Amino acid sequence: MRRSYARLRGGRWDRPRREGHMTAVKHVGIVGAGQMGRGIAEVCARAGLSVTLCDTTEARARAGLAGVADSLLRAEKKGTLTCEERAHALAGITVAADLSRLAGADLVVEAAVEDERAKTELFRRLDEVVAQPDAVLASNTSSIPIARLAAATRRPQSVLGLHFFNPVPVMPLVEVIPSLHTSRATELRVRAFAGEALGKRTIVAQDRAGFVVNSLLVPYLLAAARMVASGTATAEDIDTGMTAGCAHPMGPLRLADLIGLDTVTAIGDALYEEYKEPLYAPPPLLRRMVESGLLGRKSGRGFFNYAA
Ligand code: CAA
Repeated sequence: MRRSYARLRGGRWDRPRREGHMTAVKHVGIVGAGQMGRGIAEVCARAGLSVTLCDTTEARARAGLAGVADSLLRAEKKGTLTCEERAHALAGITVAADLSRLAGADLVVEAAVEDERAKTELFRRLDEVVAQPDAVLASNTSSIPIARLAAATRRPQSVLGLHFFNPVPVMPLVEVIPSLHTSRATELRVRAFAGEALGKRTIVAQDRAGFVVNSLLVPYLLAAARMVASGTATAEDIDTGMTAGCAHPMGPLRLADLIGLDTVTAIGDALYEEYKEPLYAPPPLLRRMVESGLLGRKSGRGFFNYAA
């Protein structure tokens, strides 16, 4: 057995088996029409899948759809999408304000607020409403243990993490996170969905807060926030240090603004709770910014001003 493929499943090591019959995902339900949910809706619709984009109110779901429509129009103007492809993708998305509209989904991706209680309640409800017995319930969580979400359902074998990166239409990576209860069939089905249907690169991570990318990225973003707080350099110069000095596409503070300072703080808290390492603890400045409504790009101001 190739050790790198071995994975602990309920106390035993197993090896990947050849897939048996795997039903392709055709109908995707997305819960949460914020920046991640709408990005996921866009890539699914562009892949020709039928998408139901659900939020707590129809107005929120419609705002998500409007965001997808803008993004598709930009892609058409850039020439990466024809007018027909844009219309087809848009027509593939239906909005909903009631989770019961996800009853027929083959796969649901939960992309709601990064709050464990809210997500746990959503998984409990999804378990009630999603009718297909082999439907997959996935979470786009950045840091909440998948096992806790799975425990809210009666089908933990069909629950896993499916973590996209912002901006979803641009970033090629998706992290796939099976819990100790996730079946091999569920994992393979979701890897085929993300890799083949959506054309993303997939990596598989164990069910530990932060998975691979955020365990590395978030301490770096928090360190940059601490530098601002201690006056080491200006926000502009800290970012220039990493773009001009290390060829990062974006400095850590603009990246934190893009992700959302509330989300960065929530991920830091979840990582700190899991590992109790000071490097994961959000600094007071970041908390004050969030409490003051300075959430980054989505609120118009964070470490930088986006009002213009
Ligand atoms: N939607 C669709 N396309 C977008 C987009 C969006 N929101 N934002 C940018 N793009 C496209 C542009 O249209 C452009 O496409 P073409 O090259 O085909 O013309 C391309 O991306 C580059 O955009 P720009 O030229 O406008 O700007 P840029 O060169 O500065 O790139 C960026 C913008 C892609 C965001 C780039 O700065 C970047 O890669 N930044 C790092 C992003 C990153 O690290 N994301 C991961 C965050 S961590 C996370 O999401 C996980 C978590 O749990 C916290």
